[in-house]
Amino acid sequence: MAEDAVKKPSGEQWGSRIGVILAVAGSAVGLGNFLRFPGQAAQNGGGAFMLPYFISLLVLGIPLCWAEWTMGRFAGTRGFNSAPGVFAVSGRSPKARYFSVFALLIPLVIYMYYIVIEAWCLGYAFHYAKGTLMLGADAEKYTAFFDGFVGAKENGWIFGEGKQLLLFIAITFVFNFVLIYRGVANGIEAFCKFAMPVMVICALCVLVRVLTLDGQERSVSQGLGFMWNPDYSALKDPKTWLAASGQIFFSLSVGFGVIINYASYLSKKDDVVLSGLTACGMNEFFEVCLGGLITLPAAFIFLGASVATFGTFGLGFNALPNVFAQMPAGQLFGFLWFGMLFLAAITSSLSMLQPVIAFFEEGFGMNRTGSSLLLGTLALLGSSFVVYFSEGLKALDTFDFWVGTFLIFVLAMIQSIIYGWFFGIERGEREAHHGAYLRIPRFVQYMLKYVVPLYLGVIFVMFCLNNLRDSVDEAGVVTEGYVTKIKNDPIAFNSMIFIGGVAALLLVMVHIAGVRWAKEGRFEAALNDN
Ligand code: PFF
Repeated sequence: MAEDAVKKPSGEQWGSRIGVILAVAGSAVGLGNFLRFPGQAAQNGGGAFMLPYFISLLVLGIPLCWAEWTMGRFAGTRGFNSAPGVFAVSGRSPKARYFSVFALLIPLVIYMYYIVIEAWCLGYAFHYAKGTLMLGADAEKYTAFFDGFVGAKENGWIFGEGKQLLLFIAITFVFNFVLIYRGVANGIEAFCKFAMPVMVICALCVLVRVLTLDGQERSVSQGLGFMWNPDYSALKDPKTWLAASGQIFFSLSVGFGVIINYASYLSKKDDVVLSGLTACGMNEFFEVCLGGLITLPAAFIFLGASVATFGTFGLGFNALPNVFAQMPAGQLFGFLWFGMLFLAAITSSLSMLQPVIAFFEEGFGMNRTGSSLLLGTLALLGSSFVVYFSEGLKALDTFDFWVGTFLIFVLAMIQSIIYGWFFGIERGEREAHHGAYLRIPRFVQYMLKYVVPLYLGVIFVMFCLNNLRDSVDEAGVVTEGYVTKIKNDPIAFNSMIFIGGVAALLLVMVHIAGVRWAKEGRFEAALNDN
């Protein structure tokens, strides 16, 4: 490769092939697999949900994941690890870096609330170990416990009676930053290599427990039927299709700016095609085989059909604890379950930090201590905002909707256009196949160029029509859309201001970093290196 002198590679790289696959799979496997997926499936036609789900996986998820792996490695071998560099190199123009603001904003803002839920999981695991979550078969007790633990009834609760959560958040924060500080191979990779097998073992134990439950009012097969019996009428509702594609993105960590960063630490001869596919496969195993067979069937067996309406947090933190209390050896299984959720969440939250750390270091020449301190301060500000405004979990919900759902469609669309129309599918195909153990069928490249942006565009417009405006159902009940929510609710409004502030800061930083790189001749060197 020419002009190595002007490149400043971070020096970071993955230690092994299985390590990078486990790290990407670790990012993908998270709370989305065990809590979000069953909730979405139950609310959108049960088994019928799997049709749009698998179509989205094949048409959007896997092709975009390959595009991200390919662009990430391409830019990485040209000296860029962070999203602004990857976008500039792949988009064939330094100006393309401005679009990368989304690829920094999304992981950073998601981290701000994801870490809070991660801390809930740690807290719940602790309470199982202590025995304080075995509250009998009384649903209200679990709701009261959850509301008290997270402060869902009152803002500022955490600094008063809810102090206990602060400790769990502090532990979770420190744990994440210690691992990130250790770097890609010694921190992220080493932890994922340990955590992923442990998660499989814990989840399998809970699965065997659930599938062998007998003597209850409802049988295991009724529980599985409740989750999986198809209601085909749901396929006529555009909401089902939206939910399916949103779930695919969230779950695979596609459209977040994570995979492009992780893939940039590969070398040119490393495979991306089979590795990308394997990571997707692992995620699907965790999601469909473990998440899909445990959470909802177990809840149904003990609590009946009402659990379909519980929502993600209701299912995970109210219904399941009630279920564990009623099953034999429930305390142990409760501990294993929430311990496993905690591990799954950490391997995901690490992947939200690394893209931003990489940018601070690459864009401003910071060392690891400086970049960790800056990122830690920003993340702490955001998480404090989320935990302070805990009433009705409104700040969390606003961050999750606008960044964790809305913006990922936007970023996925930008990435597919950059890949299909600027990077180019010929280059894409050539690049993907360096060192590849598998060939990507040619039609996938055409799909990436034409079908993916179009499919995403249609879904995005429908998504906006469905969620942003107020809607009225047949019974005349009005549901506020997200635009009205911002107008009427000061917390939602302030959350948006906060997100806007972070976006503006990142935009300025991306601009400054680009000016520095241009002066150093780094863009020129990378863009001339075809
Ligand atoms: N894919 C993760 C899950 O299913 O829980 C969530 C996630 C990971 C979101 C990484 C964002 C991210 F950057």
